[in-house]
Amino acid sequence: MIQKPKGTKDILPSDIGEWQFIEKTARDVCRKRGFEEIRIPTFEETHLFRRGVGDTTDVVQKEMYTFEDRDGGSLTLRPEGTAGVARAVIENGLAGDTMPLKLFYIINCFRHERPQAGRYREFYQFGVELFGASTPSADAELIALGDEVLRSIGIQNVELHVNSIGCPNCRPAYKNALVEYFKGYTDELCDTCKNRLETNPLRILDCKSPICSSIAANAPSTVDNLCDDCKNHFDGLKARLDLLGIKYSVDPHIVRGLDYYSRTVFEFIATGIGAQSTVCGGGRYDGLVEQIGGPKLPGIGFAAGINRLVLSMQNGSNYVKPDNSPALYIATMGERASLEAVRLCSLLREKGYITETDIVGRSLKAQMKYANKIAAKYVLILGDNEVESGMAQLRNMSDSAQTEVSLSADEIARIIG
Ligand code: HAM
Repeated sequence: MIQKPKGTKDILPSDIGEWQFIEKTARDVCRKRGFEEIRIPTFEETHLFRRGVGDTTDVVQKEMYTFEDRDGGSLTLRPEGTAGVARAVIENGLAGDTMPLKLFYIINCFRHERPQAGRYREFYQFGVELFGASTPSADAELIALGDEVLRSIGIQNVELHVNSIGCPNCRPAYKNALVEYFKGYTDELCDTCKNRLETNPLRILDCKSPICSSIAANAPSTVDNLCDDCKNHFDGLKARLDLLGIKYSVDPHIVRGLDYYSRTVFEFIATGIGAQSTVCGGGRYDGLVEQIGGPKLPGIGFAAGINRLVLSMQNGSNYVKPDNSPALYIATMGERASLEAVRLCSLLREKGYITETDIVGRSLKAQMKYANKIAAKYVLILGDNEVESGMAQLRNMSDSAQTEVSLSADEIARIIG
């Protein structure tokens, strides 16, 4: 038996409704707010992620699906969407167009992580990127968009955590203060964090190991170490969230796993779906576009994990399963009836009715059983006599009442409603 690769998922027709609901909700909210869809390649040159996402991140160091192309170059399946979107903005000259540039995407991403509930090696993201606006209003707009998507889906028990991790002006001093603090505990930190002390000390703040997190609890906090500009920016964001009535908590342990962030970072965390509870994460990345060879262009964005949104919908949501059962099934006996069914099906489908007929060659009895199984609302029963006379019985499957109808799509449509 050939099985799907570890950490991947088949999304079956029985489950697809929730996915389509999320995607439609996200698209509707984006359209209302002037965001347009972009599609980017599934793979990019590896150095885009090395430079964009950052060489010291777990994603780049341990999780990328990187392979040598047949012509020798190194390609990587996208582990996220921001770097690819930023590359597309630069490459297509979108940075010169009217600003702000407001984009969204629905993509699959690939990370070689240890699979568990809510964590996969191929997963789906709905992401939003806003370029060319560096004000706190832009941050608030983005967070409000995420909040609206989650509320429209009806995700229960979700909390917004916000933080500011400063900018290239204030972060070096803060990093030094952190390193000083954690050096006092070097022996107690986990091996990964010992390494992070050299490479990426901020990441120690969100280490999940109980010892590291208890040490981190008393570490100097980012928000107490911001320069005036970053502090004003963060205050401006909070004032807008308050104004919008969006509840949040300032969480100095939100630092995010990717290198490109500066100032605002945030996560929406849903309880009741297990350890992988961050359904949406993002932040400001004012240096990213320049970092990968583009102009100076501020940006902010987020991505929501669609797999995790689907999981959290199990605790309640606004999703209502659409009724996709056929309005009409045409049961046939014989070649002439089958031809007539093809004609009627086509006319009724053009009118918008979900209509099916036999294409397997089943007996009448088996066709009736099948019509029941697919929950057809009406069944039209056609044989040679009916085709000859132009009249047939239309059965209402809910009460078995039969009406004689002429073989006219208009008349059938009038009855099935
Ligand atoms: P991220 O936090 O790495 O950020 O991923 C965003 C979301 O994708 C997570 O909150 C989670 O819901 C989902 N996700 C991540 N990894 C997995 C996985 N292995 N299995 C299932 N779901 C997962 C980014 O990717 C940034 N590009 C977000 C962003 C956009 N920042 C600015 N703009």
